Amino acid sequence: MQIGLDFGTTNSSVAVYDGSTITMLPLDPRNTANPRLLRSSLFLTREGVAYIGREAMDRFLEGNVGREIDYAWKYIGDAELTFADMDTSVIQALYAYVDDSAPGRLFQSLKSGLRDAGFTHTSVFGRAYTLEELIALALRLILLRVQDQLGQLVTGVVVGRPVHYATDPAADTLAFKRMRYACKLAALPNVTFLEEPSAAALDYARQSRHAQRVLVFDFGGGTLDLTVMQIDRHGKMQVLATDGVPVGGDVLDQRIVMGRMLKHFGEGAMLGARKLPFPVHVLEHLSEWQSIVDLTQPRYLDIIDEGISMSDRPEQLRALRALVRRNYGLLLYEAVEQAKVALSDSNAAVISLHREDLAIDEPLPRWDFERLIGPDVRDVEQCIDRALAAAGLTPAAIDTVLRTGGSSRVPRFVRLLSQKFGAEKLHEMDVFTGVTSGLAIAAWQRGQ
Ligand SMILES: Nc1ncnc2c1ncn2[C@@H]1O[C@H](COP(=O)(O)OP(=O)(O)OP(=O)(O)O)[C@@H](O)[C@H]1O
Ligand SMILES: [Mg+2]
Repeated sequence: MQIGLDFGTTNSSVAVYDGSTITMLPLDPRNTANPRLLRSSLFLTREGVAYIGREAMDRFLEGNVGREIDYAWKYIGDAELTFADMDTSVIQALYAYVDDSAPGRLFQSLKSGLRDAGFTHTSVFGRAYTLEELIALALRLILLRVQDQLGQLVTGVVVGRPVHYATDPAADTLAFKRMRYACKLAALPNVTFLEEPSAAALDYARQSRHAQRVLVFDFGGGTLDLTVMQIDRHGKMQVLATDGVPVGGDVLDQRIVMGRMLKHFGEGAMLGARKLPFPVHVLEHLSEWQSIVDLTQPRYLDIIDEGISMSDRPEQLRALRALVRRNYGLLLYEAVEQAKVALSDSNAAVISLHREDLAIDEPLPRWDFERLIGPDVRDVEQCIDRALAAAGLTPAAIDTVLRTGGSSRVPRFVRLLSQKFGAEKLHEMDVFTGVTSGLAIAAWQRGQ
């Protein structure tokens, strides 16, 4: 059986098509809101057992969050370093702060790591995993679940890929090579790739019966992908131009944290009699939940403790200490994401986080969210203009704009598209299944 697989930055899903009906497989029974969406999360235990989806998050939240983390400076292995201007390499011992008593590690947004040449491997309780291995573990578990549900072996997989994993062509090529290798490690059978917006258009074209020029706007957790295409009366597609930027829902969450939440964690506090400002570089570690844990290093904890005992904002610094020591980073980012999602349907939301030493209720009006994401709106608009220019078209020449991907629900981007193309041209696909459905169709066509 051939399947379509969308391994997304935030969510993954699988669908099959039989020539008339698309079936999305319920990959994640724990996701009660929508079992057909599987969080692209991976949890690895100390013993090397892997979990995916909601279960991965639950295990992390149960075992790692709310527990005092104690980091120890430890030898984690050797790395071979090669220098460009020398033809020798040196073996260097690697040390890192490791959480000695953690039951496991959680990985999210692994797909975004593909474009990061610096993310080669990471040590999980003393065993080094390459990024490709981590992704392969997740893909393998997905494949097993699929086969379990279908009751038959998968014989071929059409995997989605962003138009651009990265802006830089070298990073883009690297990312694609790594993804291909991860699929190989996972032993996915007979893999081909299809650009995600082309997949969405394929699903749309199946149902449309007139010739038109379409812009696909696929805005997910990690990337914005655009495709301009011509669809003829028979649903045949011709791609006129593609473009994309590594901007997605993760970046929007980051804007909220960095723009609205730092004041709850000591931003602007003054230290000691000389009223020195609390160092900004410490708070920069809040820009991703995964990097908050860096602050458990003694040199940072000392600064935070100093702030608790001798600043004008001890409660905020106690909140920072709890965030860091008790691993509440993921909860902070989840609270922010929830508020962002709520803002797609209402004009105001509240970011709430209540744990010991944390009592945050930060109101977030939609206008302020829109102010915070201003730079991203500009990036997105430029990307649209580039794609149109490459296709040699003006906005007026586009008949339909297909919106897909969770972030395409953000009203600011809907407004951007309406202003550029006219509200009547916008068409919202099922934001979470449009791409996967198209991949399933491509998989079926390939099997014919
Ligand atoms: N109603 C909503 N309003 C705004 N954002 C939303 C909404 N629902 C989901 N999102 C955001 O959409 C993103 C996930 O979308 P999606 O599942 O389409 O991404 P993905 O396919 O995993 O990522 P990518 O395609 O970039 O690899 C998350 O950042 C999530 O916060
Ligand atoms: Mg996607």
